[in-house]
Formats: sequence, structure tokens, C-alpha cells
Amino acid sequence: MTQQKIKWDDAYSLGIKNIDDQHKKLFDIVDKIFSLQESKDVKGNIRTILHELFEYIKVHFKDEEEFMKSINYPDLAYHIELHEQLVKSVSAILRDPSRLDIIQMKMRVIAKQALIDHILEEDMNYQRYYFSLKKSETGTIDEPIINLDI
Ligand SMILES: [Fe+2]
Repeated sequence: MTQQKIKWDDAYSLGIKNIDDQHKKLFDIVDKIFSLQESKDVKGNIRTILHELFEYIKVHFKDEEEFMKSINYPDLAYHIELHEQLVKSVSAILRDPSRLDIIQMKMRVIAKQALIDHILEEDMNYQRYYFSLKKSETGTIDEPIINLDI
């Protein structure tokens, strides 16, 4: 069985630069977990990276929610609920630090769910809504006016 790579791919691009940049950074943090090798400091390293992921995912979700609010995205409440569930999944592995191979296995499942599937299914929904809104307002597609702080 070939496992799907947990790497950024242009297919995940929303065409909204600030959000794409944050997604790329999340992939980079997750990748650090897969690059770890067994060593005597591995537990500390795992903890540091998981903590970084947990903090950054919260920043990212908050910025994304602000963006959806700014465009009056109709499914905002549902999307926020999904974010809350994903934060819980990440915090669950944070609370239960385990062996490197187990963490990597769990991270593969969570990254697939929280990054790849979430971007392709849920984030693409607000992206389509945003661009259809821009198109009907101006007849053209402009760069988003938001400036997310990353
Ligand atoms: Fe999202």
C-alpha cells in the first residue's frame, strides 16, 4: 500500500495567498515530525514540534474564521465546529506523548484529516464562495483585501 504523502501540493492552493502560506507552514511543521529520527532527545523534540503545531493551528483557524466572517460566509458556524474538532484531535496527541513511530502514525492520520481533506473539501467551499462573490461584485477576480498576519 502506498501512503499518501503529507506534503504541500499545488492542488491544495486556494488562490488566497495569506491562507495558502499558512497552510504551507502547517505542512512544514507536520513534516518535521516525519523527519525525526530515534534519539535520546526525541521525546523533547516531539513535544516541541507538537506544541508548535498546536499553537499555529489555532492562529491559522482564527485567521481563517476572521476571513470567512469578513465575507459573510454562510457555513461559518459549521466550519468553526470542524476547526474545534481538529484542534481537539491535535491536543489529544499532545496530551498523550508516545513513541516516535506511534506519534508519526497518528500524525499521518490527523494531517490527512486536518490538512489535506479539510483543505480540499471544506476550505475549497469558502474559497468558491469568496471568488463567486468577487466575480458578481466586480466582474473580475481581485486579490483579497484581507491581510492576515502571519
Ligand atoms: Fe478551515
